[in-house]
Amino acid sequence: MKQRILIVNSGGDCPGMNAVIRAVVKRAALESNWEIIGSIDGFDGILSSPYELKFLDEKSVSGIIVKGGTFLMTNNKRNPFNYPVKQSDNSIKYTDVTDQLIKNLKDLNISSIIHIGGNESHKISYQLSKKGVNIVGVPKTINNDLSITDYSFGFQSAVQIATEAVDKLVTTANSHNRVLILEVMGRNTGWIALHAAIAGGADVCLIPEIPFTIEKIIEKLESRYSIDGRGFANIVVAEGARFKGENLALSPGLIAREITARLKEKNFNHDIRETILGHLQRGGVPMAFDRILATELGVKAFETILEKKFGTMTIHKNGELTNIPLEKVIDKNNKIETTHNLIQTAKGIGISFGD
Ligand code: F6P
Repeated sequence: MKQRILIVNSGGDCPGMNAVIRAVVKRAALESNWEIIGSIDGFDGILSSPYELKFLDEKSVSGIIVKGGTFLMTNNKRNPFNYPVKQSDNSIKYTDVTDQLIKNLKDLNISSIIHIGGNESHKISYQLSKKGVNIVGVPKTINNDLSITDYSFGFQSAVQIATEAVDKLVTTANSHNRVLILEVMGRNTGWIALHAAIAGGADVCLIPEIPFTIEKIIEKLESRYSIDGRGFANIVVAEGARFKGENLALSPGLIAREITARLKEKNFNHDIRETILGHLQRGGVPMAFDRILATELGVKAFETILEKKFGTMTIHKNGELTNIPLEKVIDKNNKIETTHNLIQTAKGIGISFGD
């Protein structure tokens, strides 16, 4: 009998997820005795009755490398340790369904899982591996916030989209003597904001790692205007950026507006407009870099299963594809150090961090 691997996506979608799945399937096809099965919509596919699973052969993954999103779908609200189970009165009870999951895997003769996900997802991978599930993780995040891997696919595509947004906002800011604020993703880390600010030529970059004051922002903005009010400025702010000395943690989509409100409170009298880039950053065609990285990780994940190195994650470290134990992955955000060369570069061209 052939050996079966289940592929499960978790968390938000990310350009390159399809390329990982395609790579696993194509690599497995080079061996004679493997079958790859996709779980539709995260763990739902393997946990639902009837199952929602898709047998994946080379034909079924043909052409998907260029496609954004993920054709298997994904879900960030289906933790099998705390899974929403519908009760007879239609209410939802959060329940640990991992015993059921393990039983379903056994019933279907599935011997291992490749789990594609971010930080939160791999806490689940680790817990499952502790329960005896043969699992291999693949890191995925547009935010580049997994510290254990040098790169994560999806990030370069998101940076490109954010940079193109800055490019467009620069011309409209210039045409109207305005301040344009662009809010980009990054709850815990400011990698997208930092890259887009440098590449797009922004004047102010606000990131979670460097708390800012409104006074410092005004100082920079005013320097962009002449006495007669001519001038313009562009701000790139990560959704998780924070005011210095405050515990205010705003939900995504609110920080740009809060900055505008505070600028007005301080009588900053130039015109201001905000743009929230949101989920545009997760969509569209993955860049070549992300497709290649995702393909590398997919091939490596399959080979990791061949080598029976379960309970690990495939990563890129110091130019090499390797594996690390899942327990090392947990809870480590890839924060930008204030000494990072890109912060120094940004400061070196006059970008203000509001600090
Ligand atoms: O973690 C990735 C991320 O894109 C965050 O940057 C963002 O805040 C969040 O996911 C959005 O989640 P959702 O798609 O559930 O709105």
